[in-house]
Amino acid sequence: MFNIVIFGAPGSGKGTQSDRLIERYGLHHISTGEVLRDHIARGTDLGKTADSYISKGQLIPDDLMIRVLEHVLDSNPDKTAAGVIFDGFPRTIEQARALKDMLARRGSELHAVVGLEVPEDELVRRMVERGRLTGRADDTPETIKNRLKVYHASTAPLRDYYVGEGKYHAIDGNGDVDAITESIHRSLCERVPGLSGINN
Ligand code: AP5
Ligand code: MG
Repeated sequence: MFNIVIFGAPGSGKGTQSDRLIERYGLHHISTGEVLRDHIARGTDLGKTADSYISKGQLIPDDLMIRVLEHVLDSNPDKTAAGVIFDGFPRTIEQARALKDMLARRGSELHAVVGLEVPEDELVRRMVERGRLTGRADDTPETIKNRLKVYHASTAPLRDYYVGEGKYHAIDGNGDVDAITESIHRSLCERVPGLSGINN
């Protein structure tokens, strides 16, 4: 199993690059934001709870989010996938420790963290534009501001955590989408033995 976390601020391109990486490496994609938005759309109890946090740009509490992730991991129907790309999880040090334990209990580990680094004005521009085009509920100016504040306070410290674990791959996430995919590929191939053999 080959497991990657795609990491970055709101609007940094985690979903966009995940779509490309799952195709390239045959990975299964788990986006916690998409899981929660699906629950909101279906009106489940989890969806109602999640909506009360997401609409304010706050994080879902760690204990709940960890249980949700564990459930999603266990109900992964894609048993033939080469591994998993985690998009939007972990977002706190507590979640990072939980992910490490979860993977270890399944005889696996996290191989790499791809960190998409994008200037703040570009993040805001992308989210405002997406809000205009798609109406995504948390892409309003006030919620975007809070999502970025929460990112800096709770999620950004994970960068140093994963640098310390020797897993962090800093990627310039600004510019052409295809060029960013290529730089992720090059960076992963340099440090993850066997990856270039999975696919090219
Ligand atoms: P989540 O859905 O994960 O949202 P996010 O982290 O805020 O990130 P986005 O999905 O907005 O952006 P992205 O990085 O995926 O970029 P994208 O490719 O879409 O989480 C939503 C909420 O759920 C959280 O706020 C929280 O409340 C809750 N939640 C989720 N996980 C949680 C967890 N683990 N713990 C607690 N709470 C959790 O790109 C953005 C836009 O830019 C798109 O329109 C795209 O087309 C465009 N774009 C992409 N790349 C480029 C490029 N290179 N140049 C120009 N435009 C680009
Ligand atoms: Mg996303």
